[in-house]
Amino acid sequence: MKLFDVYPLYNVSPVKAEGAYVWDEKNTKYLDLYGGHGVISIGHSHPEYVKSITNQLSKIGFYSNSIQNPLQTELAQKLGEVSGCENYDLFLCNSGAEANENALKLASFKTGKSKIISFNNSFHGRTSAAVAVTDNKNINAPINLQQQVVFLPLNNIELVIHEIGKGDIAAVIIEGIQGVGGLDEGTTAFFKEIEKICNKNNVLLILDEIQSGYGRSSKFFAFQYHNIQPDIITTAKGMANGFPIGGVLISTTIEAKFGMLGTTFGGSHLACAAAISVLDVIKNEQLLENVKNIYQYFLEEIEAVPKIKKVKGKGLMLGVEFDFEVGELRKKLIFEKQIFTGGSNNKKLLRILPPLTITKTQIDEFITALKEIL
Ligand SMILES: Cc1ncc(COP(=O)(O)O)c(C=O)c1O
Repeated sequence: MKLFDVYPLYNVSPVKAEGAYVWDEKNTKYLDLYGGHGVISIGHSHPEYVKSITNQLSKIGFYSNSIQNPLQTELAQKLGEVSGCENYDLFLCNSGAEANENALKLASFKTGKSKIISFNNSFHGRTSAAVAVTDNKNINAPINLQQQVVFLPLNNIELVIHEIGKGDIAAVIIEGIQGVGGLDEGTTAFFKEIEKICNKNNVLLILDEIQSGYGRSSKFFAFQYHNIQPDIITTAKGMANGFPIGGVLISTTIEAKFGMLGTTFGGSHLACAAAISVLDVIKNEQLLENVKNIYQYFLEEIEAVPKIKKVKGKGLMLGVEFDFEVGELRKKLIFEKQIFTGGSNNKKLLRILPPLTITKTQIDEFITALKEIL
């Protein structure tokens, strides 16, 4: 059997990883400024994380959601504490798309409505409702087109007010900072107005923090820059440093009913052990502080690199926009300088999503490589 060929692949095969570095089968060392799509939060193979998963697996790795699992409760408590979002309940699932799928379903259950407002250039995943609210026709199959979705430009509050005024909107879904789209984001005024108009009109505000959450913006969630309280927050990627998990943080105003949501694998003992150790490391190693410091350092140092138009994003969710398309530059960074970076819908933008543990010396490596190539 061969693999279903859906991914364009770089010819690199990592076999080992530690911190912000990855080694291939020939023992070539790469600096990882992309964390496998922003998944590696506390660094590859963090010793606390490895210990925690290994210990858990030797006890019990999985049982279904029909028994008590104190690790789920511990995870919810710690997530509430570390994120500052104590007024939410947690539903655990297995991926970002699944988290958004459940969030959209909850909004529809709660409001009795089914139309969703999403934004131009958004990405929310590839399952049924999640892909329908994703602004990319190429990844929507005919079966996905039955969902009722309206796409609006970011930061045009008048259009949001107009759509919500029609009375049939169940939810507004928006990324804290757009990832795949190319690091655009709503202004504080925009987020605050959306919150206000949603509250007035029985519309739920869903914050997709799957890429921008878990400390990546230097706040725990990027929406925390805007002093708002979403009804639902979705999270995944950095949540368990590579172990598959997703989470839906649900306002306590939304009442749970048995059977309303469910999953076989979500919230397994092993996934919880992985996610708890990520929160412990974020807290104990003060990673949000590191993200803040490195962000400042990055902004200062990148000034010396030529041909840059703009640096977008916040913390360690960054987009470096050039005045040319970056495909060749990314190849040179990998194959000549051994540095992984990411791309986005904006072809002129390098997406930088390193582990939150990254150091100034490692940023220097990147800056030097860019200067040498350019
Ligand atoms: C903002 C955002 N939402 C949702 C998803 C989907 O997550 P997953 O690939 O885990 O389904 C992604 C993945 O890139 C994302 O960036």
